[in-house]
Amino acid sequence: YDYDLLVVGSANADLVIGVERRPGAGETVLGSDLAVHPGGKGANQAVAAARLGARTALLARVGDDAHGGLLLDSQRSAGVDTAGVLVGGAPTGVALITVDPSGDNSIVVSPGANGRLTPADVRAAAGLVRASRVVSAQLEIPLESVVEAVRALAEGSRFVLNPSPPRPLPDEVLAACDPLIVNEHEAKVILGDTAAGGTPDDWARALLARGPRSVVVTLGAEGALVASARGTARIAAVRVDAVDTTGAGDAFTAALAWRLGTGAPLAEAAAYAAQVGAVAVTRRGAQASFPTAAEVDAL
Ligand code: RIB
Ligand code: NA
Repeated sequence: YDYDLLVVGSANADLVIGVERRPGAGETVLGSDLAVHPGGKGANQAVAAARLGARTALLARVGDDAHGGLLLDSQRSAGVDTAGVLVGGAPTGVALITVDPSGDNSIVVSPGANGRLTPADVRAAAGLVRASRVVSAQLEIPLESVVEAVRALAEGSRFVLNPSPPRPLPDEVLAACDPLIVNEHEAKVILGDTAAGGTPDDWARALLARGPRSVVVTLGAEGALVASARGTARIAAVRVDAVDTTGAGDAFTAALAWRLGTGAPLAEAAAYAAQVGAVAVTRRGAQASFPTAAEVDAL
């Protein structure tokens, strides 16, 4: 394999404003100065993996504009191979983000160019997919394009999906996931009515029954749950003071995907990923907050 990890996904300019509290409908609140950061779940994952030392590539689409330039710069300075980043067709994706004093965020994404990363684009990049040990995707690009990535996987390579923002998934995609990584909200959308009233253990078992080879349910401050045919295990949360949780889930997913590719068992990879995510929440921004392997080891 030429790459430890290929991320097929989104790239957004994150327009971030700190707020004391979020406005309700019809309400105006004043916030902090505007910060513009490189973000997007796909671009975040790629930077996170590269910073940990993974040979990483990104398959994405940005606009031919200043935000696209910001995103390409941040990928390149993290050491991500950007040959698969297509340019043009629509403005670069934008995420409007508010961060409250507890570090929690609310995000509205305008997909822009991400929505124009077509199945044909992915087919044209099938060589990149086949050259990658692990392929990771999210759902800020068209689902049909994620399906194409699954179809292009090399024999023996691994597919990791964080279905965010969530929607029901076709069996073909579910069956390829190893693991499917969801939070509570995503688990409930994918499971539909069957999830009502259940526990995380119930969701993990129900999700496994839909076809993934493994499942990770992230539980925020409660850690995570990993599940496969070999059973389930709890992963303890790493306690830190949260400053900005934006992108921490992407860092978790990228770290998990990379460690799995190196042969780590699921629970061990998830414990490492939890440490990576923990560092990310202690710093502002998404990509700017991701640690190197040395910083994780120092934790
Ligand atoms: O997961 C965090 C990311 O979600 C942000 O960087 C934003 O761009 C949205 O995609
Ligand atoms: Na952060």
